[in-house]
Order: sequence, then structure tokens, then C-alpha cells
Amino acid sequence: MSLIEKIQETKSFLEAKGLTAPEFGLILGSGLGELADEVENAIVIDYADIPNWGQSTVVGHAGKLVYGDLAGKKVLALQGRFHYYEGNPMEVVTFPVRVMKALGCHSIIVTNAAGGIGYGPGTLMMINDHINMIGTNPLIGENLDEFGPRFPDMSDAYSKDYRAKAKEIADSIGVKVEEGVYLGVSGPTYETPAEIRAYQTMGASAVGMSTVPEVIVAVHSGMKVLGISAITNYAAGFQSSLNHEEVVEVTTRIKEDFKGLVKAILAGL
Ligand code: HPA
Repeated sequence: MSLIEKIQETKSFLEAKGLTAPEFGLILGSGLGELADEVENAIVIDYADIPNWGQSTVVGHAGKLVYGDLAGKKVLALQGRFHYYEGNPMEVVTFPVRVMKALGCHSIIVTNAAGGIGYGPGTLMMINDHINMIGTNPLIGENLDEFGPRFPDMSDAYSKDYRAKAKEIADSIGVKVEEGVYLGVSGPTYETPAEIRAYQTMGASAVGMSTVPEVIVAVHSGMKVLGISAITNYAAGFQSSLNHEEVVEVTTRIKEDFKGLVKAILAGL
């Protein structure tokens, strides 16, 4: 089956389950999936039941698609995403974004846990741009002309308009947000201190193992993107050692602020 046929099949399956006319796709990163539990009039579907869909394997990622109302908007939330380091082809990593677009989402809000370069644990950072150091690009291969052009413009990947509105909203509810460049790597190793020094020179403020593929595919199809990183640790070399437990612990600590912020943004966009 071609990619287009797979997208069509999955779209039809989800529409038959009642997932019609979503506005915003939400991609919830490590430890941030709880927000989907607040969706009202929810239709919840296990990833295992969805045709052509990948499977989540990471601790802290639930593996459910949640559709319904959040902050007055129709959302389609991914509780758990697919990572390249799990061995998923890029087509699988970005498939949910294709389906979100096909179902009618005009925007995605993408979130992640990330290491901070300059910023410390507990910081919420609005992504204003990214650097792709994953070593591949999800659009390599035949172009899906129905979705977008062969050579997509990435000049305003993280909508300037959304960033300005989100910053205003964050200020109005008293949640502090920083802003910076997210550098995406493949993982699963954390970076070496030398790599982090290189990334710092390149202009990165945060580093993580996700987000860049989904954003590229969203921008390709003309969706507007808002990205938020939860900084869970200082990147390698700026603290003595790194581990996934700390990532989960810090996201748990800041998730109330995070959830409040995303809901307020959704309400205001
Ligand atoms: N590096 C890469 N990915 C991450 C990090 C990090 O330091 N923290 C959370 N996700």
C-alpha cells in the first residue's frame, strides 16, 4: 500500500470512530501526556487498534490517541509519540501528523522534554526555530504533492504569530516562558559534552530526540506550529551526569504549569 493509501485508510478508520473535524493536533512528550486526560467528551483509541500506526515503547509515553474538547477547541492528542531511536522509519514517526492534516487539523502544538543549553531544569521554552541534526529528513523520497511542495520553505516553521500570542497568554496567566532554538538529534545516547559545546556554538538553546521530524512534515502540509520544550536537565557537560529518571521527575514537577499554559494557549489561539 502506498503512503497516501495508508493515510486514507487510517483517516477513514478514525472518522468512522467519530473523529471528525479536529482543529488542533497535540503531540505530548515524555511525562507531559497527562494533559490528554483532561479532554472532555473524549474518544480514546489505543495505538494498537489503529491501522498503519506505530507502537509506543518508551516509559512515560502512554500510546493512546485522544480526541475531544479541550479549552473550547476540538483537539486530537497523541499521548505518546514515535521516536526515530526506537527503530521507527521516518514514515512511522511522522504518520500521525499526516493523519492529523488529513482529518482537518490546521495546526499542531508539539511538546517535548529537552536538555537545556543555558536554560536549567524546570524551564518552559517556546521553540522559535530548530536545527535538524538527526541525520535524515522525513520528506526524503517521493513528494506527496497532495500535501505540499517538493522544497518546503522553513522560514517561519514555528509560527511567529502563534509565538507572539502564546507569549502574551503566558504573561497574562503568570507562567514564565523563555524562547530559543531546539536542536534535534536521533538519540538514544545523550550527547557528549563536546557535542553540546558544538551545538552551543551553533546557536541551540535546547537539545532533544524528537519534534523536528513532526514539525517538518507539518510545515510541508501548510500547518501552523507551536512548539514548547520542558527543560528537564542541563545538557551534557553542564551537569555531572544525565538519566531518564531525572527527565521524568522534572516533567512531573512542572506539568501543572505546562498543562495550564497549553490550555490557556489553546483557548486563546
Ligand atoms: N538530551 C537529549 N534529549 C533529552 C535531554 C538531553 O539532555 N533531556 C531530555 N531529553
